[in-house]
Amino acid sequence: MYPVKDCQMLPNTMRALVLRDYDGKPENIGVAEMPMPRPGAGEVLVRIAASPVNPSDLMFIRGLYGFKKALPAIPGFEASGTVVAAGGGLMARLLVGRRVACAAADPGIAGGTWAQYLVTGASRCIPLHKDVDMEQGATLLVNPLTAWGLVEQARRGAHRAVVQTAAASALGRMIVRLARRFSIATINIVRRPEQVELLHKSGVEHVLNMNDATFDAELRDLCHSLGATISFDAVAGKLSARIIRAQPERSRLLIYGGLSQEPVRIEPGSLIFERKRVEGFWLSSWLRTKNALSRLRIAGKVQKLLATDLRTDIQARLPLEEAARGLEQYVTHMTSGKVLFLP
Ligand SMILES: NC(=O)c1ccc[n+]([C@@H]2O[C@H](COP(=O)([O-])OP(=O)(O)OC[C@H]3O[C@@H](n4cnc5c(N)ncnc54)[C@H](OP(=O)(O)O)[C@@H]3O)[C@@H](O)[C@H]2O)c1
Repeated sequence: MYPVKDCQMLPNTMRALVLRDYDGKPENIGVAEMPMPRPGAGEVLVRIAASPVNPSDLMFIRGLYGFKKALPAIPGFEASGTVVAAGGGLMARLLVGRRVACAAADPGIAGGTWAQYLVTGASRCIPLHKDVDMEQGATLLVNPLTAWGLVEQARRGAHRAVVQTAAASALGRMIVRLARRFSIATINIVRRPEQVELLHKSGVEHVLNMNDATFDAELRDLCHSLGATISFDAVAGKLSARIIRAQPERSRLLIYGGLSQEPVRIEPGSLIFERKRVEGFWLSSWLRTKNALSRLRIAGKVQKLLATDLRTDIQARLPLEEAARGLEQYVTHMTSGKVLFLP
């Protein structure tokens, strides 16, 4: 192992949030003393500074994510921190002492980011620019990169406008700003009047409440007048079918979240006669389509926008010991910003 000079004496244990069952019950997640993880070849040990709660973490805790880790497991998919040791390999050793954004969203990574330390692959760390603080750095890898990936789909297909659901989410607000940067209009769907007001106040023009009686007609008119031939859907369920119905022929619906926890039912005619397409979008798969150099290039561009288009609002900063309160606060106030654990 290659430790930095001032961290040669690493403790033998660390504090971490530990999940004991995938049943989503709060009593099955709590702080425990765990053995200090040791990095292997190509891996680094990161001392975690901050780690957010994202919808993907909630799905993971409930056993609904794309994979499960062996129990007891440490949840948390992304964080910021400082690399304090490397297990070998040039890339890993070059990261020692650097502030990084790091990811644990992979079944091959045993640990999670809701802990004092994480061992992860050097390739899953992005060195942070000097002007990016640990809080914004902690939220770099999931939402800002996804916003970039989704807006890239609209740019590549030369779509003039995008429909998006859960538009008042952290990611939704990033998509609005990023799309605007590339002159792509957005039609923003939310579920509460307060969210309509919130988006209007921040200068967003087209906002529709999915629970209004006029929603379907207004969505159809906007889709056709603005040429919204692609949509980004984080809600799924019945809403997906309503969007597909409203969009022009040959439109594309990308489902990237399942907030409604409902299945999607599409009329076959939309797919057959109107040649509309329904697909999934997952950041991990999209990143795999990029080589290491383009991943670094995209991460660089995204970091430059972290203070503006791709910024994340933070509603609470809590120690691991207050996990139950943090999770409850996030689940009941998702639109108010991210809850960060500061281990
Ligand atoms: N596929 C990928 O690779 C990928 C990557 C990153 C994120 N995501 C997905 O992106 C979505 C947004 O993430 P985020 O971190 O930006 O979320 P967030 O900031 O926590 O906000 C979640 C938003 O969704 C709304 N919402 C929750 N349940 C809903 C429902 N059943 N119907 C309609 N709206 C609902 C919330 O509104 P209320 O305040 O009314 O609850 C809130 O505005 C999530 O689904 C996440 O899983 C996917």
